[in-house]
Amino acid sequence: MSIFTYRPGKSISSVEKQYNIKNVIKLASNENPFGPSSKALKTVKKELNQINRYPESNPIALKLQLVKELKQKNITVDNLIIGNGSNEILDFAARAYILKKDEVIFSKHSFLVYKIIANIMHAKVVETKPILSKDDYYLGTDLSNIHNKINKKTKLIFIANPNNPTGTILDVKEIESFLNSIPKRIIVVIDEAYAEYAEYRNKTSALTLLKRYSNILITRTFSKIHALAGLRIGYGIGSKDIIKTLNYFRQPFNTNTFAQLLAVECLKDKKYIIDSLKHNLNGINFLKEELNKLGLDCLSSYGNFITFKLGARTSTIFKKLLSNGIILRPLDNYSLSNFLRVTVGKNSENNRFISVLKKILNVRKV
Ligand SMILES: Cc1ncc(COP(=O)(O)O)c(C=O)c1O
Repeated sequence: MSIFTYRPGKSISSVEKQYNIKNVIKLASNENPFGPSSKALKTVKKELNQINRYPESNPIALKLQLVKELKQKNITVDNLIIGNGSNEILDFAARAYILKKDEVIFSKHSFLVYKIIANIMHAKVVETKPILSKDDYYLGTDLSNIHNKINKKTKLIFIANPNNPTGTILDVKEIESFLNSIPKRIIVVIDEAYAEYAEYRNKTSALTLLKRYSNILITRTFSKIHALAGLRIGYGIGSKDIIKTLNYFRQPFNTNTFAQLLAVECLKDKKYIIDSLKHNLNGINFLKEELNKLGLDCLSSYGNFITFKLGARTSTIFKKLLSNGIILRPLDNYSLSNFLRVTVGKNSENNRFISVLKKILNVRKV
């Protein structure tokens, strides 16, 4: 069986070793550059001496905090499942709802994990054509193309909103009319790993659709805005039926004590969240402007990253950036080999990336 594999971003230590350099910066994996809220870290540090005990199997304190934060009347703890990263929830959905030869649909250039988990379940992967009009939606999900591919064998549809790596977003109204047009037996996973960044820019989450559609599963993560990627914790929100089904596939202790405790505290630190969101938007605007000044086209960017076009020289420039201590993400695996993806870093990192890129492109003054 040939399974598509995930290629993670290169690590700082491996690049330092490979090029025998120091001060490497990583702008490759859409992480929050600031590390988690120090207030949250301080609160849970004392709990480290508890790690001889198994974690909560059902992290109720975290679920209750989420119910409070999500602010939707119809969402209770029974509508939530906690995962070892949101990837684990995506995996539960694949294992729960796909049998061999079933069909799974998602747009081309969507998050790679959908293809991997569909392959593992021996499902038929149906990748639909993205939007090709050169506007804010360029290369994003075209729901009408997904609609056209639905047949009796379709079991799951994945929609990342915003999508990684294109950064594009769909309006919740478009998702709603799409949901109205498809059979209710199909489970639609709406992956909102970057939702907080989009909400900050006045985009509505699909959370508002939950009360009307019992066939949707929304996934979210603590890896991005909350800066807990290394701890692996995320969550799914769906109808009680979906959550009950997914729970059959969950190991009893799938998330660790430290991640559970820290996630609760991170949700409470509003100042950290707002500061990170502000920083991210400034970073997006700065990077976009600088890349455009260099004559480089950027895809729209509703997350914490920008995907920009370099054409035939992409791989050479990626390597030159690496040898200068800057790790970006090549996108060959996403059929976007003419593009690179850069994550918003600290201001000093963003500045360094732009000035090294200028040097590589041999731009004297822009
Ligand atoms: C669209 C999308 N979904 C899910 C994830 C996985 O996040 P997690 O760290 O919660 O597994 C990512 C990570 O980059 C992502 O880009």
